[in-house]
Amino acid sequence: MRLKVVVTRPLPAPVEAKMRALFDVELNADGAAFDRERLASAMQRCDALASNVGDRLDAGLIAGVGDRLRLIANFGVGTDNIDLAAARRRGIAVTNTPDVLTQDTADIVMALILITLRRLGEGERLLRDGRWGGWKPTDFLGRSLAGKTLGIVGMGRIGQAVARRAAAFGMDVHYHNRKPAAGHPARYWADLDAMIEIADVVSVNAPYGAETHHLVDGRRLARMKRDAVLINAARGAIVDEEALVAALAEGRIAGAGLDVYPHEPHVDPRLVAMEQVVLLPHMGSATVETRTAMGMKVVENILAFADGRELPDQVV
Ligand code: DGY
Repeated sequence: MRLKVVVTRPLPAPVEAKMRALFDVELNADGAAFDRERLASAMQRCDALASNVGDRLDAGLIAGVGDRLRLIANFGVGTDNIDLAAARRRGIAVTNTPDVLTQDTADIVMALILITLRRLGEGERLLRDGRWGGWKPTDFLGRSLAGKTLGIVGMGRIGQAVARRAAAFGMDVHYHNRKPAAGHPARYWADLDAMIEIADVVSVNAPYGAETHHLVDGRRLARMKRDAVLINAARGAIVDEEALVAALAEGRIAGAGLDVYPHEPHVDPRLVAMEQVVLLPHMGSATVETRTAMGMKVVENILAFADGRELPDQVV
């Protein structure tokens, strides 16, 4: 018998075609995000849920599912949207989609560094508004990447891919991690505070969890140089957003480039109003190639589960 799979958001066409061919699949036809009620109902009537990083699968929801659900195959490398302990308690396996999004996410980090330091967003907005008066030697003076110090917070796969790119741009690359990581052009700092003090650009690339909640808080923001910028393409809640707004508003740091927010899709209007802040709608892995590869990983994990094989990307 084919496994019953519910998919909570439309996925790239080749992924949906493969799912149709392999499973008794219920695709998301209306495109809308699943609310709690729809998630609960889906989790009652399927063997595997193909969730995504926007679905909140908390302990209450997981505790209330019947006995049918056996796998949550999350579309995303991050699984902080799922209460993993609750899934473990109910004997529900959880998988994610690592590796395939590393390069594109590192590209977005570099894009945020470029847009923020070179003031590209401001320039584009001004031109589109019809306010460009022609080339002037003193217009839009941003800052060069070459020679600037980059401090990477979290040296996993994405942090390392950022380090390689930043070194190619001529940046002096440093990183903080629980342990030193080998094989990249960067200097290790065990002391995050000390690294933050010397960085011109601080890039958050750590996974989100209890240990990294508000890792970049008001105290750490206060240690940053006044002309430094903060980049976050990891998870919004790793940064204390209230403290970030205050640091930016008071000119205690020079800018920020953000792809993620603590309460997505809500973005604090005070950030939206700031010219020195670049805001992207969680686009790190948003390429045809990567989103398709992520979907194929979801399929592989469900298929392995259906065949009783070891799950390639099991988190729980
Ligand atoms: C992830 O995979 O966790 C990203 O945030 C979305 O690609």
